[in-house]
Formats: sequence, C-alpha cells, structure tokens
Amino acid sequence: MRLMFFGDVVGRAGRKAFLRHLPHLKARFSPDFVVVNGENAAGGFGITEEICATFLDAGADVITLGNHAFAQREALVFIERVPQLLRPVNYPPGTPGRGAGLYETASGRQVLVMNIMGRVMMEPLDDPFQALERELEACPLGIGADAVIVDMHAEATSEKMAMGHAADGRVSLVVGTHTHIPTADHQILPHGTAYITDAGMCGDYDSVIGMDKAEPLTRFQRRISGGRMEPAEGEATVCGVAVVTDDQTGLALNIAPVRIGGRLQPVEPDF
Ligand SMILES: [Fe+2]
Ligand SMILES: [Fe+2]
Repeated sequence: MRLMFFGDVVGRAGRKAFLRHLPHLKARFSPDFVVVNGENAAGGFGITEEICATFLDAGADVITLGNHAFAQREALVFIERVPQLLRPVNYPPGTPGRGAGLYETASGRQVLVMNIMGRVMMEPLDDPFQALERELEACPLGIGADAVIVDMHAEATSEKMAMGHAADGRVSLVVGTHTHIPTADHQILPHGTAYITDAGMCGDYDSVIGMDKAEPLTRFQRRISGGRMEPAEGEATVCGVAVVTDDQTGLALNIAPVRIGGRLQPVEPDF
C-alpha cells in the first residue's frame, strides 16, 4: 500500500499550499491513503468545520490534531459528526471526538490511524505508550488492519523516538508532528516500522514555526508579550512523507520525505 502523511498545516498560507499541491502529489505518487495534521489550520490554532471539509474534499482521508485540537471551540461539537477527524487518543475519557479510527481505502483495505500526544513539556495526559498498546490490542496490524499509522504529536524528540521503537514491528508508520521542522532521520526501524521524528509543517518557513516572526521575537527578546501570534503569510512549503508498505505484513518497505513549494529545497520520493 502507498501512504502519504503531511505535517501540521499552519494558517492560510499552509492551507493554500496544501490544497494547491495535493492533487498533483496524489497524481504523482498514487497514494491509497492520505493523512494530514490540521491542528494549526485555522489562524494557527485549531480547525473549523469548513476547513476540515476542504481538506477532505481535496483528497485527505483522515485529519489528525494535537494540543490545539479544540482551540476553535466549534471543534468540540462538529468533531462528533466527522469520523475522519481525530484528536489525541490519550485525552481523558469523556473528551469529545475520538483518537483512533479504522478506515477503508478505495480498494477495500483497512487502515488504522491514531493520534497520540506526548507528555514531555506538554499537558499531563494519559500515558501515550499505554494508549498505543490499547489501540493495537483492539486492532492489530495484519489481523484488524492492513496498515497502521501513528501520528505522535510531541515536543521532545526523545519521546517521539521512544514511541517509534515501542511500536516497531507492529505499526506501518510512526510520524512525529507538533515541532513544525522536518527532520532528516526518516528510516525503517529494525522490525519494519517506517519512522520520522518530524514530518515538518505545511507553512511559511520564513517564520518562527509558522508564526509571523515579530511577536515570537518580542517574547524571546523582551520577555513581554506584544500581542497576538499570527501565522506568517508567505508562500508555504508542503512537508510530509511517503511510505510504501508490504501487502502481506503491513510493515514498511520504503519511506521518503516530500517537500514542495515555498522556501525549502524541494524533494520527492523516487518510488
Ligand atoms: Fe502544530
Ligand atoms: Fe501541536
């Protein structure tokens, strides 16, 4: 199976680039399944029902979230009627929406997707590693699902790498999000799980992690907030990974970064 995952879409610039580039990336790579992280899609914080619909219409199969899942309050309500929208699975019981889902591809194969949030330098949620075990027990790769994708939304590279190894051999892809900077460590782990610490954001890289530079600089240099954080508005780079899995085992055969548009050097998979 061929999978694509795109990192956090930040603001209008990120949305515009993602919607513009997705059709020809799909034509070029022919993915069976596409996931995008949408936690920063609406003005840098959260997602609206309207934006969610545009991503699904453009060809995303699932949208994952993160710590900004409910920054747009309407998400608390509409997430219940959009099964393709996932918030972190390790939020407390009773949180609206769901953190994992099983989805069918056009060719009838089953893909399990989960959104897990790290706890290092983040909110003290339920144990992300136990959450992984729970979801895999309910729907193991090769039995319940033909592919399993884990979006590990975390600040610490260590926690993301640990999640990769915890899942290795039982998941098709563990992809890090939240830090908004693509890492160069895409690899297939020893037991067959494709892994990257950060897919990178879909946003303007002339910024501080997608936000207009002025306000973050003020906060760093003067320790005083000067106003609101606003997404940077320059041309965005669409960042993500492409993965090929083995049809028998569901494990990864190949992983490569995808970067297109904006300031970063373009890169495309050669498979
Ligand atoms: Fe983010
Ligand atoms: Fe985040």
